[in-house]
Amino acid sequence: MLNLILFGPPGAGKGTQSSKLIDKYGLIHLSTGDLLRAEINAGTSLGLEAKKLMDQGILVPDSVVIGMIENKLNENKTAAGFIFDGFPRTVAQAEALDQLLAGHHLSIHHMIALEVNEEELTERLLERGKSSGRPDDQNEDLIRKRVQEYTEKTAPVAKHYESQGKFQGINGIGEIEIIFSQIEAIIQR
Ligand code: AP5
Ligand code: MG
Repeated sequence: MLNLILFGPPGAGKGTQSSKLIDKYGLIHLSTGDLLRAEINAGTSLGLEAKKLMDQGILVPDSVVIGMIENKLNENKTAAGFIFDGFPRTVAQAEALDQLLAGHHLSIHHMIALEVNEEELTERLLERGKSSGRPDDQNEDLIRKRVQEYTEKTAPVAKHYESQGKFQGINGIGEIEIIFSQIEAIIQR
């Protein structure tokens, strides 16, 4: 069993590195952003409520994403492990995750943080916005708002796992393969 949190600001490469980890280790990918976008595409009332906030670059309420993660953990009891991508994003979410995992006799092994500066994040997201169709990639003000939410509400989550001795930061700028090999080195340590 291997349970990882991929951590970092919007555009840091969490989704990119997650897909490589899934290929190699057969883990279940739990991206709350992807789960929320699936709700939006399905036109559910949860999706409609979430969209109003996501389109402004604001976090959705903790209870919404915690409920989603709880369902996914219950649906995947025989998984080889989980990659949490974009979750937990607040200290309250981190505390809830620890509790949910403990209820399944599981725990987080590593939080791996991809460190990327705001200039590079903005460049990546504006570029992706040309083809992604993601409303929150469309302009610099929105991207700045997402980074601000990250700095204010999400960055403190690192301390939560640091105090458990689980936090590892790596440089998220450079070739995707080189970043991946650094993640593998942490897993294999
Ligand atoms: P979410 O979907 O999680 O988006 P995000 O965190 O803003 O991050 P991204 O998915 O944009 O970036 P990423 O780190 O996955 O990078 P990627 O690999 O795509 O959340 C969206 C919204 O949903 C939030 O704003 C919030 O409203 C809501 N939400 C979600 N979870 C929530 C939660 N837990 N609580 C409350 N609200 C929540 O890469 C980005 C780009 O860079 C790509 O084009 C990629 O090709 C490129 N790239 C990747 N790596 C490199 C590299 N090494 N060099 C150059 N380019 C690279
Ligand atoms: Mg992502």
